[in-house]
Amino acid sequence: MIFTTVDRTSSKSLTQQVYEQIRKGILDKKLLEGQKLFSTRELASTIGVSRNVVLEAYERLISEGYLEVKPKSGTFVAKGTSLSKISDYPYEKDKKETKKLENAVIDFKGGNPAIDHFPRKKWGQLTKEVCSESQQHIFGYSDSCGIEELRNVLAVYLQRARGVQCQPDQIIITSGATQGLRLITELLISDRQQDYIAVEDPVTDEMRNIFSYANAKIHPVSVDENGIIPELLPKERPSFVFVIPSHQFPLGGILSIQRRLQLIEYARKMDCYIVEDDYDSEFTYEGAPVPSMQGIEQEHVLYVGTFSKILSPALRIGYVVLPPHLVEDFQQLKWFTDRHTSSIEQFVLARFIEDGHFDRHIRKMKKIYQERREVLVNSILLAFKKAKIIGKAAGMHLVVEIPNVDFTKEICDKITSFGVRIYPVEQYSMKKGEHKDKIVMGYGGLTAEQIKKGVKLLKKALNQI
Ligand SMILES: Cc1ncc(COP(=O)(O)O)c(C=O)c1O
Repeated sequence: MIFTTVDRTSSKSLTQQVYEQIRKGILDKKLLEGQKLFSTRELASTIGVSRNVVLEAYERLISEGYLEVKPKSGTFVAKGTSLSKISDYPYEKDKKETKKLENAVIDFKGGNPAIDHFPRKKWGQLTKEVCSESQQHIFGYSDSCGIEELRNVLAVYLQRARGVQCQPDQIIITSGATQGLRLITELLISDRQQDYIAVEDPVTDEMRNIFSYANAKIHPVSVDENGIIPELLPKERPSFVFVIPSHQFPLGGILSIQRRLQLIEYARKMDCYIVEDDYDSEFTYEGAPVPSMQGIEQEHVLYVGTFSKILSPALRIGYVVLPPHLVEDFQQLKWFTDRHTSSIEQFVLARFIEDGHFDRHIRKMKKIYQERREVLVNSILLAFKKAKIIGKAAGMHLVVEIPNVDFTKEICDKITSFGVRIYPVEQYSMKKGEHKDKIVMGYGGLTAEQIKKGVKLLKKALNQI
């Protein structure tokens, strides 16, 4: 166990200090997965604080998924904690060794778009046009909310495609949805000791980590095949509820209209916000896409979108549509973070949308993703007779349930050694143990051949493990 001390002169509460040290211990790998922690009584007496202080810190770490309690045994560092998630981060992946392995492995990571279909030629042509034809001022500093041209075309597109109701000046261009969510957390969490965020469980670890690295408390709310379960929303007011209503990640449910309305009523009653992440809603393969929640309620919904999936994550362009009363404060935060997102890329993107290339590109990509999904579904059902596909036909990932297989970290590592990487749903769950036989398989970034080969390798691995 790491040595925990507290500083009574610090402005941070004792609970916060204990919580932060243990969490850091886990993230720095000083506390390892499966390691047993001191009992609350032992730790309290070692560092000289009341037991309640330690109890509260442990409870928070349990609810965020860092620790787990085993009845009659004690409290342990949970499996699949951020420790292993961190090793998935790009800066870790830069390491040569990992890079080599990645090249050899067919990686079914959810949310990887088809970068082999980036419209290189058109983008290059428009970039050349913007650089040669534009007035000089575009190469200087620009507005922190983003360039007017992009916000204008985006407002029209969002209204038409997603039913979003907004004026261009409610849109702030961010460096991806990631930055949008980071700034929203900063904006809406005023008291880190008290405030908390209600988050779908399971949820993408990348988005959850944005909240926990901002030191925000997280309250998990379970998700079923129809999305977040409103009856399980916290009784006390959260600062906001984070949802992905158009295609939940990872379970793939589309939030039903009844639940959307329940959620909106909840936000109105609690006077809290809903943060709607609409990151891959353009790609729906059965039925019409369900319009955004922001289109129903504008005062309590912050709508987050991105161009990472439709075009490329390398652009780092996303956006947040804010209720008017939050625009000024959000804009200030954006300014202090990085002044503004690259405006030259924004000009190119504005032209790409305005000239109709964007709509054409979406239509083309929708077909490609639909085909890739079909190849994956067929390959899985052929290889695993008892497999069940979970989630709506949308986006660029699906969930597969293979009964009687427990996708532990050890099993998944062994599968990787066969040349294919899959992602257990448990990795994304805060409450552990409910999705042991389910895996996430992203197909967006893989060709049909890679998908077929990947499923064959998965079958081979499972036969031999
Ligand atoms: C749920 C979710 N929202 C949004 C994004 C997009 O993030 P960004 O726009 O920063 O690339 C991702 C990325 O994988 C995601 O998983």
